[in-house]
Amino acid sequence: MLDKIIHFLKNTDGYISGEEISEALNISRAGIWKHMQELRSQGYDIVAVPHLGYKLESSPDKPFSHEIKHNLHTKILGKKIFYFDTVFSTMDEAFRLGMEGAEEGTVICAESQTKGRGRLGRSWSSPKGKGIYMSVILRPRLSPTEVSQLTLLAAVAAAEAIQKVSGLSAMIKWPNDLLIGGKKVVGILTELSAETDRVKFVAIGIGINVNTPVNQLPPHATSLKNEADKNFSRVELIREILRSLEEWYLRFQEEGPAVVMMRWKELSSTLGKHIKISDPNQTIEGKAIDIDDDGGLLIRSDSGIVVKKMSGDVVQIS
Ligand code: BTN
Repeated sequence: MLDKIIHFLKNTDGYISGEEISEALNISRAGIWKHMQELRSQGYDIVAVPHLGYKLESSPDKPFSHEIKHNLHTKILGKKIFYFDTVFSTMDEAFRLGMEGAEEGTVICAESQTKGRGRLGRSWSSPKGKGIYMSVILRPRLSPTEVSQLTLLAAVAAAEAIQKVSGLSAMIKWPNDLLIGGKKVVGILTELSAETDRVKFVAIGIGINVNTPVNQLPPHATSLKNEADKNFSRVELIREILRSLEEWYLRFQEEGPAVVMMRWKELSSTLGKHIKISDPNQTIEGKAIDIDDDGGLLIRSDSGIVVKKMSGDVVQIS
């Protein structure tokens, strides 16, 4: 109901009468008043004038479901959005909901995470109200080994959304870190629930340092605010990420992974660079020469052998 009321308020220039809303939504005037009070308590500035009705003066930049859904215009992503003030991790919530059968495209957003997690067992700094901490549930018809393609797809979608909303160009460090000026601004984590050869669901976790002061970030990280010297709307960026993610997901399903990989390569800061890639078993040094359609990184080691890596931590040397 709140999303419908928000829709009315945002699409009206000036005042809209309680009567008009109550007729359109088939709820009592007292019911409307209660919802207005609820919205006010969430930070919406709503003016009420006798005989004129209600007017929305301003909305909070909080990733509420009804706020994100306004003018979203997606087909699959964001039909259901769960908002939390504080969670351990939006990935935990995505798993809980995924296990309960949540539909494809379900989104989980939080204002803060107390146990935000990253790749390779790292943590993700998630100060309250500053960044985007979200997970999206997908139910692709893929085998578990193909899921890394979605991780790369998410990096492409996030880079394009950031460019559109902020004008900043973020480059992708393999597999899925987004960097601006060599500093990390976005992290993406893909986790899945699967049977031997069938994916039940995938949770794509996206963390973006949006308005985060650098002193609340780890070393070698930056935020959009720090790069552009201004604040950005988290809600607007979440909407754009959902649109871009959906567009790429549909293309991926229709045309296959090659289109995604092509765009990934254009946005890559890793290919052509001399890198060091490490996992618990080995460290390889060499030139990153290409990625495969399954998202694996091809490295020509200094001894001339080409090695393919599906995971690992990359340090770009030159
Ligand atoms: C990485 O760079 O290692 C990935 C970081 C992913 C962080 C996001 S924030 C939203 C979601 N919830 C988490 O706990 N992690 C992901």
